[in-house]
Amino acid sequence: MKDKIKSLQKLREERDIGGGIDRINKRHTQGKMAARERIEYFFDPDTFVELQGYIKHRSSNFGLEKKKFFGDGVVTGFGKVNDKLVYIYSQDFTVLGGSLGEMHAKKILNVMDLALKVGAPMVGINDSGGARIQEGINSLAGYGDIFYRNTISSGVIPQISVIMGPCAGGAVYSPGITDFVFMVNNASYMFVTGPEVIKAVNKEEVTFEALGGAESHSTISGVAHFVGSDEKNTLDMVKELLGYIPSSNIEESPVTETNDPFDRMEDDLNEIVPVNPNKPYDMKKLITLVVDDYKYFEVHQNYAKNLIVGFARLGGKTVGIVANNPDIYAGTLDVSASLKGSRFIRFCDAFNIPLISFVDVPGFLPGKDQEELGIIKHGAKMLYAYSEATVPKLTVITRKSYGGAYIVMSSKHLGADIVYAWPTAEIAVMGPQGAINIIFKKDISGAKQPETLRERLIQEYKEKFANPKTPASFGYIDDIIMPTETRPLLIKALESLENKNIKNPPKKHGNIPL
Ligand code: HXC
Repeated sequence: MKDKIKSLQKLREERDIGGGIDRINKRHTQGKMAARERIEYFFDPDTFVELQGYIKHRSSNFGLEKKKFFGDGVVTGFGKVNDKLVYIYSQDFTVLGGSLGEMHAKKILNVMDLALKVGAPMVGINDSGGARIQEGINSLAGYGDIFYRNTISSGVIPQISVIMGPCAGGAVYSPGITDFVFMVNNASYMFVTGPEVIKAVNKEEVTFEALGGAESHSTISGVAHFVGSDEKNTLDMVKELLGYIPSSNIEESPVTETNDPFDRMEDDLNEIVPVNPNKPYDMKKLITLVVDDYKYFEVHQNYAKNLIVGFARLGGKTVGIVANNPDIYAGTLDVSASLKGSRFIRFCDAFNIPLISFVDVPGFLPGKDQEELGIIKHGAKMLYAYSEATVPKLTVITRKSYGGAYIVMSSKHLGADIVYAWPTAEIAVMGPQGAINIIFKKDISGAKQPETLRERLIQEYKEKFANPKTPASFGYIDDIIMPTETRPLLIKALESLENKNIKNPPKKHGNIPL
């Protein structure tokens, strides 16, 4: 027996070093952790259980039979993050560059299937040269099987991709389907075709970083939702996110104990909206003053900054926050903001997370480029996402709410349960200047003193529309509230909606404008 125990120990040691100590040391000099070290850092101590660690590939193409390693370049299993069960795969770059072949894929599929069966989040740490070239079609098949599972699991369990090295070719499409993508600054990249191919085909020179680095994907493409400063910081952010979200779509939005008084009222809220309606203000500060412990976890912090989305807690319960940001493009909605907002709203709805919308939106961003980019179909995504969402939907209009953007931003018409307006709210088809210039164009151009007339009409318009009384008189707003009352009222409203239970008509699936 002793011998058997000893040989098992040896086997484990061999398994645990993946592609070998030298390669692991090389990773360390590059500031990277090994696949197992990442897992160890990620999970609560002594909770990780490895699965299928002795799998080896079975290919003999191009000398591959001489390059066999336990685990075949990926470590898989489950563990606990702050006591929550999470499934994981972590690609091991020390084994054939973490490339994905038949058996490597099989291990990933195994944990994906288990996560779906038990209803637990699936986290994938990607660090791979992509499809293992020597295994040919079997590598592609492996990816295909992963994409299929990503899709079937979508909306059932949260799926999170962490990019900690290269992620090239079709390999980026698994992260692309998952709910959240994390990247490490200056240490990870994602692209469908690399710089070499781009140079050959387009005669265009581009660096790895500019093409698919964390900065590019978190600011321009929006593919990455979060960027960590290093590997540990990135994994810490994943853990924080997991604390906000349920494990599956059959769980309610998580509730955590809080010492923050439910009836806390912040006087600063009464001062936050400037008297001048064209002046921006700090919507993020507004959010923090309202939510538990002044804390919210922003998603897509650097992408489409004209819309703010993120998770927070109200009365201990996780909520999804969607807010216009008057500081950027005056808070208008453009294509990127619409994409960002709709995806977030749909995640929250899929996972029973109530939506709180703070509205200060002068409209959609006008422009030829926006029309060419398809603002009609992308803006429609926001309408669609809010309309189909059956979770509790609460809205607070803090200032402007004009035109189509008024409807889009969780209005009563799209099924918002309770809509509050601050006394500073202005709800109208459009802003005073634009409106008067259109409806009194002839009168103004024919007037002896056009500017005086324009000013008078603008004033009249403001009195009629630049306040929340008219929409409140039609019932489009449930109450006009003091800004300081926002937190207690939102918490009470959330409580009242605890048992909200509505279902959209049965269908195979809707056809969101893509
Ligand atoms: C097999 C691979 C590999 C791959 C890397 N390796 N990528 N083996 N298939 N796709 C091996 C290398 O041969 C090497 O083995 C080891 O991994 C480390 O690679 P290096 O090149 O030495 O490392 P580095 O200089 O850090 O460069 C990493 C890299 C580069 C940028 C990822 O290896 C690379 O460009 N790989 C190919 C990336 C790519 O084009 N992938 C797309 C494949 S097609 P040894 O034994 O020497 O240590 C694809 C389509 C999927 O993914 C479609 C799905 C639908």
